[in-house]
Amino acid sequence: MSVFRPGLFKGKVALVTGGATGIGRAITEELLSLGCRVIIASRKEERLKNAVQEMRPNSNKLKAKVCNIRSETQVKDLISFTLNEMGKLDFLVNNGGGQFPSGVSDMTLKGWNAVIDTNLNGTFLMCQEVHRQWMAQHGGVIINIIADMFRGFPLMAHTGAARAAVENLTKSLSVEWAEDGVRINAVAPGSNIYSPTAASNYGNLKIFDHVREGIPMKRLGTPQEVASTVCFLLSPGAAFITGATFRVDGGASLYSYLNWRIDEHKKLPAYSWNYTPPEQEDHEETEGKDADLPKAKL
Ligand code: ADE
Repeated sequence: MSVFRPGLFKGKVALVTGGATGIGRAITEELLSLGCRVIIASRKEERLKNAVQEMRPNSNKLKAKVCNIRSETQVKDLISFTLNEMGKLDFLVNNGGGQFPSGVSDMTLKGWNAVIDTNLNGTFLMCQEVHRQWMAQHGGVIINIIADMFRGFPLMAHTGAARAAVENLTKSLSVEWAEDGVRINAVAPGSNIYSPTAASNYGNLKIFDHVREGIPMKRLGTPQEVASTVCFLLSPGAAFITGATFRVDGGASLYSYLNWRIDEHKKLPAYSWNYTPPEQEDHEETEGKDADLPKAKL
């Protein structure tokens, strides 16, 4: 069902952190469907076991390893496990991460540090160790999954700071490691990609009920729309792309309804396979104070 040609990643090996659920799961499924062998890593053993069982039980194409990416020792073990099991490592997808909604005033230093440690230090450790153990000699492709923090990230300032730092790290590494044959890019999904995992991460904020209106496409995104971007960036089609950030957010990071009002429409439908996005109701036009704003013409 992938848009990419069958067997595109035959003979390749990928390591996907957070590959058991949400966006990481969609990335893993598409890589597997294209012939890639995949190792998924997560802190939670049960989650990994279920994911392997659901995706490729009893197959040597998909293996799992428990790893807390905050731990240097566990990261070292994860990379050596991958190389022992698979014999090589072509692709690293740094997708594992986490955050919790809170205003800065209410954050403890412990909470702040935990989010920086996972999203920034964890990504640093993964990149460094993959480079040391494999990519410095053999090259490879790295994707860092970040977030829509481009206009700041109120109520998620910790993750906004960490993800902005990862975007900058991506640029530095694209230059440092080019001579080793390494490409590295970032993919920034909006906070508008619906998956049950994302919905539960947002806790009580019910964010998906509110974000749709602020998206030029007037719909939520799908994990598959992030996965296909990752697959493109891993593919030879992206051979001249490094140090870049691809936003997968339906244009939301660029849109302010204060200067441009977009009417409800269904002209940019979702790309999604092996997954049914949540039912989208019909939405009424917004009446009232915004009615005089300039309107987009499609
Ligand atoms: N996903 C969320 N937090 C993680 C962590 N610390 N290690 C690995 N995967 C994670």
